[in-house]
Amino acid sequence: MTSDNVLAVIFNSTCDDFDAVTPQVWGPAGRALVDALRLQPGERVLDACSGTGASAIPAAHAVGPTGHVDAIDIADDLLARARTRAAADGLTNIDFRCADATALPAPDTPYDVLSCAFGVFFLPDMDNAVRGLLDQIPGGRIGVAVWHKGALTEFTATFFEQVAVLNAQPQPTAGVRSGSDEPRPINRIETVPLITDWLTSLGVVDVRTRVLSLPVPCTDEFAWSMILGSGLRGALGGFSDDQRELLRRNFVQALSGKGIREVNCDTLIAVGRVP
Ligand SMILES: C[S@@+](CC[C@H](N)C(=O)[O-])C[C@H]1O[C@@H](n2cnc3c(N)ncnc32)[C@H](O)[C@@H]1O
Repeated sequence: MTSDNVLAVIFNSTCDDFDAVTPQVWGPAGRALVDALRLQPGERVLDACSGTGASAIPAAHAVGPTGHVDAIDIADDLLARARTRAAADGLTNIDFRCADATALPAPDTPYDVLSCAFGVFFLPDMDNAVRGLLDQIPGGRIGVAVWHKGALTEFTATFFEQVAVLNAQPQPTAGVRSGSDEPRPINRIETVPLITDWLTSLGVVDVRTRVLSLPVPCTDEFAWSMILGSGLRGALGGFSDDQRELLRRNFVQALSGKGIREVNCDTLIAVGRVP
């Protein structure tokens, strides 16, 4: 994917750190999404915004050798990791492809299922983008995972407070908590009723939504990995290595000073059907 896509640049830069939080965050959420989708052997799945495969790889296991997963993302470096992980699992029914989820051609054969974990709120014009993705699954099922209201709130507020100390104008990052008061796409879908209504407004029926509770102990290591391995890393762009190290120290000290011992990573898992 072209390096002029700012999100691709940010997520490619997370590459070495992204999987540091997979065991606590991306992994459990991806598996919960796949469980909720009740995938059947032989089904064809499109996993959009796949990253290193947190939902795509469990999906490939679930659909088995007669099924197939096409996993797409704009960040080739994350896709390279995903391919290595899939190969280590012995999977031969999954392809990872660099593609923009907002510009997919009509598939030769429609997919049975669309999965998207922590991706929809990054898509420009979220509603139209997801409508386009629904065109890939006529008569099929959709499942999305997004942050639940309150997830990462104190954590990111503390981060951006410390960013502001170093940089009077912190750069907002799309889709994730930016420290700014401006409404963000995630705010439209961050509760059970909101995401249920949103999917329904897009024509999805039989929507079932649950909250996956994901409290993660706030160790210094986890806290900084969550910054480096997520879209929050975009706020580090202008800082030198020394400034980053200072920010890391100030940030973990501030978390501890506020008595934050756990990071709320609660996630909404919503699934439904396209008539
Ligand atoms: C927070 S990560 C989630 C990755 C993975 N689904 C997971 O749960 O671990 C968001 C992903 O969305 C991808 N992304 C953002 N915009 C995209 C777009 N327009 N098309 C495809 N992927 C996109 C990013 O590159 C990144 O890998």
